[in-house]
Amino acid sequence: MVSILKKAIMAVTGLGWFVYVVLHLAGNLLLFKGPETYNAYSEFLVSNPLIIPAELGLLVFLVAHLASAWRVTRENSAARPQPYLERVLSRRGGTTSASGWFSTFASRTMWYGGVLLLFFLILHVWMFKYGDRSGAHGLWGLVVRSFKNPWISAIYIAAMLPLGFHLSHGFASALQTLGLLKPRWYPGVRRLSQVVGWVLAAGFILLPLWALLFAEV
Ligand code: HEM
Repeated sequence: MVSILKKAIMAVTGLGWFVYVVLHLAGNLLLFKGPETYNAYSEFLVSNPLIIPAELGLLVFLVAHLASAWRVTRENSAARPQPYLERVLSRRGGTTSASGWFSTFASRTMWYGGVLLLFFLILHVWMFKYGDRSGAHGLWGLVVRSFKNPWISAIYIAAMLPLGFHLSHGFASALQTLGLLKPRWYPGVRRLSQVVGWVLAAGFILLPLWALLFAEV
């Protein structure tokens, strides 16, 4: 398959997941509101007829994202040691600053960070989607009691670091691959992408931290 098509698949499926992650964080911030609101939100999602197509879509996007990322990573390391966006940015002097270092680190660790996120996702879905929510306070209780275990909170917080790096690079990179950016926008969009990536990661980190330290269940 032509390389540009694989990259476009990686970009579109990555952006699809990005939208899901934004919505998922917004929904999960309802954890702060307490069991009634949070469980009602989850009920609303689970009882929605669109949930099954949405879940299937997420799964297909995940598999396509992984498969195209695997092929692109292999081709890049064989033929081109530095990804395109990184080369453009480093030519502009971006890699000499601290944020340039972050961006280089993020772009070089996309594959390994992505694999870590996949392990996180398997553990996460097993814990919460298939976890036992029949105890006190339903799903809210399951989530908060899980985070009361410092090890589980630590795993969640640690997993948000690869998420922050992955989104920081992936968001700008996907827009660029799809030809949605003018070259003069690259530095600005790269910074925006870093802010968005780390705001999302920080938002997810707040949930286990709050449950561990402040929530009463
Ligand atoms: C502290 C952070 C998070 C919390 C508290 C949380 C909470 C939850 C809960 C409660 C569910 C089960 C929902 C239900 O069945 O009604 C769920 C499912 C899920 N979460 Fe998270 N989540 C977090 C972070 C993430 C992150 C970072 C990702 C992706 C990178 C993610 C991806 C998913 C996916 C794919 C599902 C399955 C959705 C489905 O099949 O309907 N979650 N999450």
